[in-house]
Amino acid sequence: MTDASLHANPSQPAPSRRDFLFIATGAFAAVGTAAVVWPLIAQMSPDAQTIAAGAPFDVDISAIAPGQQISVLWRGHPVFIVNRPAAALATLKEPSLIADLRDPDSSVVQQPPYARNWHRSLDPQWFVVVGVCTHLGCIPLFEPNKDQQGPGWPGGYFCPCHGSKYDLAGRVYNNVPAPYNLPVPPYRMVDAKTLRLGENPPGGTFSFDDIVQL
Ligand code: FES
Repeated sequence: MTDASLHANPSQPAPSRRDFLFIATGAFAAVGTAAVVWPLIAQMSPDAQTIAAGAPFDVDISAIAPGQQISVLWRGHPVFIVNRPAAALATLKEPSLIADLRDPDSSVVQQPPYARNWHRSLDPQWFVVVGVCTHLGCIPLFEPNKDQQGPGWPGGYFCPCHGSKYDLAGRVYNNVPAPYNLPVPPYRMVDAKTLRLGENPPGGTFSFDDIVQL
């Protein structure tokens, strides 16, 4: 979707952020049921409707290969889970990348306290993030490979709607329309191969409603 297509009919008001969120979520639901790796989700006990409403559920991450991302639906939004290899993690500490980021230290509350670190996660290997661009709510593309988005691209996310870019920790670049880092949901590691989405680690009190911008 481009700016041109969005404003093709001058008699229609420009879409709001809410419109974008609806479009993005709808597109995900239409495509996602066929394409997403649903068998990796081991539902604890709630039915699909309850899970969509935000109940915690377990995801089996044992089959996610290094460098691979899967998507699951939580609270009506796509959540990406990425197995980040060591080389990808190394890019997150590159001074040249950090200098290009708007909020490299995650000072804005776009993540739980336990994900406010250089890798924005509990375990550096496993990245969990809500796949909703903080500009107008499109779903960013996963482009993890070096130079995939042009020379010097270290790997990250690219939003095709208006060109926002994020690194492999969901940190937004400077000089793009998106104002904030991608949101990190509450989650915890149940064991080495099971991630529970929607529930804090023991003692955690973070509420996803405290996120500044979804
Ligand atoms: S929705 Fe505009 S750049 Fe992502």
